[in-house]
Amino acid sequence: MSEKKISLFSKIFYPIVCFFGVIGILTLFLFVRIQTQNMEKTLIEEHLLFAQILSLQIESYYYKGTWPFLALKKLSESKNILFWRLVNSDGEIELADNINLWGKKIQDKDFKTKKIIVKDSVLPSTNERIKVIIYPLRIKENGNPWTLWLGISLRNIRKAQKELILAIFSLSPLLLLIIYLFPFYLAKNITTPIKRLVKATQIIGKGNLDYTIDISTSDEVGILTHAFNKMVKDLKNKTVSLNYFDTIINTMADSLIVTDAHGKIELVNEAAVKLLGYKKEEILGKNINSLVEVKPYFSFKEETKKPVESLEAIWNVKGKKEIPVICSCSEVKNEKGEVINRIYVVRDITDIKETEEELIQAYKKLKETQDELIQTEKIAALGKLASGTAHEIKNPLSIIMQGIYLVDSLVPEKSQELKETIDMIKEAVKRADTVIKRILNYARASELKLTPQNICEIIDQGISLIEEQLKFKNIKIERDYPPKPIFVQADRVMLSQVFLNLATNSQDAMPEGGVIRIKVYEEDDQCIIEFEDTGIGIPQDKLSKIFEPFYTTKKPGKGTGLGLAMVELIINRHNGKIDVESEVGRGTKFTIKLPKLKEE
Ligand SMILES: Nc1ncnc2c1ncn2[C@@H]1O[C@H](COP(=O)(O)OP(=O)(O)OP(=O)(O)O)[C@@H](O)[C@H]1O
Ligand SMILES: [Mg+2]
Repeated sequence: MSEKKISLFSKIFYPIVCFFGVIGILTLFLFVRIQTQNMEKTLIEEHLLFAQILSLQIESYYYKGTWPFLALKKLSESKNILFWRLVNSDGEIELADNINLWGKKIQDKDFKTKKIIVKDSVLPSTNERIKVIIYPLRIKENGNPWTLWLGISLRNIRKAQKELILAIFSLSPLLLLIIYLFPFYLAKNITTPIKRLVKATQIIGKGNLDYTIDISTSDEVGILTHAFNKMVKDLKNKTVSLNYFDTIINTMADSLIVTDAHGKIELVNEAAVKLLGYKKEEILGKNINSLVEVKPYFSFKEETKKPVESLEAIWNVKGKKEIPVICSCSEVKNEKGEVINRIYVVRDITDIKETEEELIQAYKKLKETQDELIQTEKIAALGKLASGTAHEIKNPLSIIMQGIYLVDSLVPEKSQELKETIDMIKEAVKRADTVIKRILNYARASELKLTPQNICEIIDQGISLIEEQLKFKNIKIERDYPPKPIFVQADRVMLSQVFLNLATNSQDAMPEGGVIRIKVYEEDDQCIIEFEDTGIGIPQDKLSKIFEPFYTTKKPGKGTGLGLAMVELIINRHNGKIDVESEVGRGTKFTIKLPKLKEE
């Protein structure tokens, strides 16, 4: 239920109007009353004097044995005298204005009075209020005086009273105006400055702190106005400094969150609003732990335990985004040492973390490049050593070969034993020659000449060298090539050897024939080559060994164990990767990944 608002003006004006109204009416009433009493007093005094003069005349005529008829006649003619009686000491009326009363006994006991009596009475014929003067004479009988009775009319006084009231009523508008004007002026005088103060408060409330009120008086209102202006000035200074701090905290790159002792958020800066992902109104008043979990690492319950000052954490902000932050917390305490506020300063370290990650990756790459370089150096050194050694061995080998052919041709008739020995030497020299050739080839992989190459063409080039053999051995080749050529940065000759080696291995693994499936496709920035056969497969425990140099399961003279070592080396030198999957009895699948050349 709304309480009715009564203005300050009404509170001042109406009580004063009522007060002056009542006072005015009372004053007028008293005034009329006093005036009437004064008139009555004057009238009585006049008639007492009149009674005195008449009593003197009556007394002197009484002793002469007559009555002052002239004076008594005049008495009867007097307007204000309603009746007169001359009463002897026995209470009998000797003389009266009414002859009928002569000789009659007066009813009133006051005829025995020795003092002048003035009393109120009522005229029986008209019920009119009158005054009766009983004036004792010096004529005495039996010790009692004669008395002169005068009935005085108050009619003229009533008339004058009425005229006075009428006059007052005719003046009442003026009086009312005075009664109204004075409180009006007074109320206005008090409320106008207050209204100005209220208006000023509203204007200042809207943010105009330059507004001041003119001071025109030196009274209490003037002092109040002066105090108000000073307050506004102080407020402006304080507000300016508040804005100043507001600007500072909102310009901060770090997030600032201030909570009360229970974690209720009281203040956030713009960086915090951005970090948390909610609107400012949604954040204020909420418990910090309902937005981000700070409890686990800022333990405040045990008083002795100092809170962690700064630590790294992951904040799960709106939209389940995980943001790495460095969060610090400090406490504001009151004079009793109780925590009243907690201030969290939070720094989003996503960029730092990203840079850190980039650095780690760069370091990894650098390490790889370094390893590669070392590897290249090693291979180069090995290559040099191998080629040097190979050449050194190659010459004696060719001499041995030429020698054995010479022996073979010079001795036409050879014993069975010699024949076999010559063949064995020939075979051994051939094997040694093959190994040397492969070592030289392996060593050559350290010096690649990379140019853009169509990968499918390279595969075909490698396989073409044994394609006829494959056909002969009942091995079918199934190609699944992309419609658009894929280019890689490659050494054409070396890379084609990879596929020659793979095809040779597949051929060896499928003595009864089978299928070689080659699938080429691109994935992201990689060119993928799947090389699969339906051969005997490789046992799982041997899979890790097949790339080792000189690992072979083939009979002596059949394999050197350098094929896949060479393949891995060449693929690595092309910044690629090779993987193998196999199942005994079902086949083997090699997957080669090479960096695709970007289309310009
Ligand atoms: N497709 C395959 N199917 C089954 N086994 C394979 C296949 N490819 C390689 N292997 C196994 O891996 C071994 C090593 O192969 P690698 O090519 O390195 O040497 P090799 O073929 O034995 O000799 P080289 O290639 O020097 O003539 C082979 O001996 C064979 O046991
Ligand atoms: Mg091989």
